[in-house]
Amino acid sequence: MKPVILVTRKLPDAVEERLKRDYEPRLNPDDRLYTKDEIIERAEGADAILPCHTEAMTADVIGRLPDSIRAIANFSVGYDHVDLEAAKARGIIVTNTPEVLSDATAELTILLMLGAARRAGEGERLVRAGEWKDWSPSFMVGTQMTGKRLGIIGLGRVGRVTAQRARGFDMEIHYHDLNRLPAEAEAGAIFHQTVEDLLPHCDFLAIHCVASPQTRGLLDAERIALLPEGAIVVNAARGVIVDDEALIQALKSGRVKAAGIDAYNNEPNIHPGYKDLPNAFLMPHIGSATAETRDAMGFRALDNLDAIFAGREPKDRVA
Ligand code: DGY
Repeated sequence: MKPVILVTRKLPDAVEERLKRDYEPRLNPDDRLYTKDEIIERAEGADAILPCHTEAMTADVIGRLPDSIRAIANFSVGYDHVDLEAAKARGIIVTNTPEVLSDATAELTILLMLGAARRAGEGERLVRAGEWKDWSPSFMVGTQMTGKRLGIIGLGRVGRVTAQRARGFDMEIHYHDLNRLPAEAEAGAIFHQTVEDLLPHCDFLAIHCVASPQTRGLLDAERIALLPEGAIVVNAARGVIVDDEALIQALKSGRVKAAGIDAYNNEPNIHPGYKDLPNAFLMPHIGSATAETRDAMGFRALDNLDAIFAGREPKDRVA
C-alpha cells in the first residue's frame, strides 16, 4: 500500500504526477485554503502532510492530528508556521526545502531593491493611468544602487546569493549573522557583531534572517533610527521581522527613503498603511515563484518524504 499524503495546496503538475506515481495523494485541485478543522479532518488516515507556509501548523492543530501522521514535509524553506516542539512531542518529523529557492528569492530581492530605489511601482502606475505628461531632469528621480553599501541581516543561503548578485552592481557588502562566516562564504563581505553595528553601514538593508522569537519585530523604530538618512529597506523573508508601524512612519517622514516588500505581517491582509505610500514597492510574496523553483521545491519535499518512508533520515529535517 502506498503512503497517503495530504497535500494542502495545488502543486506544480510535474510534482503532482510524481506524487500520484509514488503515493496516494489527497490533492487540492481548486487550491482552496483549508481551515484548521479541514486539515485535521482531511488528515484522517493519512501518513503525512505536505503543507505550505499558508497552513498554520500550530500546537493546537498538531495536537489534534491523527496518530497515523508520521511527517510534515513542508513545501517551503521557512517553517515558522509549524510548531516544532509540538511536532517533536508527537514524534512527527518536520522537513523544509532549503537551497532550491535561493536563486529565485535573491532575484526577487534585487527586484525589490531596484523597484524601491528607482520608483518602479510609481512609474508603472503613472504610465498605466495615462498621467505621464512629460520628461524633465527632475522627473521621477530615484536612488542609484550601483556602488552603494548593502547590509544583509542573515547571510544564509539566500543572503549569500543576494550578496553575489549585488556585487554585480559594485555594491559593498556588510552583514550581521549570529556568527561570523568562513572567509569563503563571506566572499569579502564585512561582518558586524550586532545588528546595531551593521545598520549605520546600510544604504540598502536586505532582511534575510529566519523568523523566530528572537527576530520578531527586530527592525523597530530604535533600529531604524540607526540607518543612514534615506536608506532603502527590503524584506523578502518574513513580515514578523519588521515592526510595520515603525517602518511606515519612517517611510512617511522620508527617514527611510523607500522600501521593497514581499513578506508581510498577516498576509494577505497587510497593514493598510503601506498601500498609501508611494515609496513602498509592494510584491505579493512571490520570492520563490518561478516555474523552475516551484518544481524544485516540490521535488525536494518529495525527496524528504521518500527518505522517511524508506526508513532513512530525510535530508532537510528540522524537527
Ligand atoms: C518559503 O519557502 O518559505 C517561501 O516564503 C514560500 O513559502
